[in-house]
Amino acid sequence: MKKNWWKESVVYQVYWRSFYDTDGDGYGDLEGVIQKLDYIQELGADVIWLNPCFESPDVDNGYDISDYRSIMSKAGTMETFDRFLQEVHNRGMKLIMDLVVNHTSDQHPWFKESRSSKDNPKRDYYVWRREPNNWRSYFTPSVWEFDDQTEEYYFHSFAVEQPDLNWENPMVRQEVYSFMRFWLDKGIDGFRMDVINLLAKQAGFPDAENPEDISYLGNNPGIHEYLQEMHREVLQHYDIFTVGEIPFVTPEDGLLYVGENRRELHTLFHFEVCDYMIHWDMQRYKEIQRRWYKGLWEKGWNSQFLNNHDHTRLVTRFGNDSIFRVESAKCFAVLLHLLPGMPYIYQGEEIGMTGVRYKSIQEYQDIAMKNKYKEEVEKGRDPGEVFKSLVHLSRDNSRTPVQWDESPNAGFTKGTPWIKVNPNYKEINVAQSLADPDSIFYFYKKLIQLRKENKIMVYGDYQEVLEDHQQIYSFIRELDHQRWLVVLNISELLVQVNVPESLSIAGKEMLLTNYKNEVDSNVEWALRPYEARIYRLL
Ligand code: NOJ
Repeated sequence: MKKNWWKESVVYQVYWRSFYDTDGDGYGDLEGVIQKLDYIQELGADVIWLNPCFESPDVDNGYDISDYRSIMSKAGTMETFDRFLQEVHNRGMKLIMDLVVNHTSDQHPWFKESRSSKDNPKRDYYVWRREPNNWRSYFTPSVWEFDDQTEEYYFHSFAVEQPDLNWENPMVRQEVYSFMRFWLDKGIDGFRMDVINLLAKQAGFPDAENPEDISYLGNNPGIHEYLQEMHREVLQHYDIFTVGEIPFVTPEDGLLYVGENRRELHTLFHFEVCDYMIHWDMQRYKEIQRRWYKGLWEKGWNSQFLNNHDHTRLVTRFGNDSIFRVESAKCFAVLLHLLPGMPYIYQGEEIGMTGVRYKSIQEYQDIAMKNKYKEEVEKGRDPGEVFKSLVHLSRDNSRTPVQWDESPNAGFTKGTPWIKVNPNYKEINVAQSLADPDSIFYFYKKLIQLRKENKIMVYGDYQEVLEDHQQIYSFIRELDHQRWLVVLNISELLVQVNVPESLSIAGKEMLLTNYKNEVDSNVEWALRPYEARIYRLL
């Protein structure tokens, strides 16, 4: 199998506005990331993914860009960015940035011109129609917004303030390629491409039979031509890494984006887990992994993640964020780092940060949640019920500031944080993690180190055992003459299981575990809640 530096990397995602604030404005900033780079390096991550830090009215936390060649003042200046990139490289790490080109902000000069008149040269930079169809957007009941000025509707896959670009227009594509080169020429190491499979729209916008299933927004004819053109014009000229955010995708379609012979992207995030699995569902999760492994192995490369800035923190959503918080955090860490694909760590995951429960909708900031709340309440639903139904998956669960220490506001800011810190910061914080040799932080560090020393974690093939077991997830990775066995009890139960002789762990070297005093046994595994073990069989 082809070896690449990025396949061997571990990515650490920095949602800078919640990372570390150095100027007291309540928002994290690039200077703050610079000051904490040693921390990320200590963990062992190779690549940093930085969420959008470009000029933006910030309606959707930077995913509504009004100037692609600038740095948002909350984040810093271009000088800070250049220093940041240099400091990342000085430490032997790499930086990928968010590329958000499905839509811009409605405050982008292109859109201001586009909406000003029907014959403006930039009119065709966006998608305008005389009549709406019945599609809904991610954040609103309709993808169409009527604009008084020219009495037509423009298309937006997300908020009203995020009009979609018209990728059919070659001038739009050239503009995008040009600012991609601007950042690549500065020396960044690649892009995380925001909803990149949404660029091509369905011809004629036919009404959908079930408008609630918004998969019509993605994977439309023309998308692969755009990505191949982007590859030809830009990507192939740099030694970089790309990961596409690709919702509504099957492994078969996924391969069209990341197949090694396709000349499009290197890897993808699919959302079969994070968009559809509300709580842990063992059979479903195993089935997803099985299918994606079969679909991509030796042909394209996958990613592994269970949370990010859009998806509730993994201990709260899939594990246990109270008595087994530490065990479940470590158990999922083993899962993510041992499955085939590149592991992503979302800031704070490495100390087992949890989701948050604010008391009222006013304390939440997430535009997706707030819009949905408003929509449902306007339909006449009980506000309390609506609120309750939205908290579990609110994106703010993972957007609370990183908990650095037990000082006020978790040491994140000297000012007023843009979003309230999680009240549990006195028990869960970085200072405490760094002081405890058994912490989740050091467990992640060991896992990353193990990956660096053992290519089997990257290139080894994958074979499930005990496929139908409801609590145990176990699999073998195999490379050349090496064989590792991973055994995970993803449950709060004590589980005992008789295994065939071939899976005997007696006398085998245990490479890592999240419990002390493990019980060795011949044909029986006995696992405590969220116990995770890695054995060398050969
Ligand atoms: C995906 C991003 O991760 C999310 O935060 C954003 O709201 C949408 N794309 C729109 O850009």
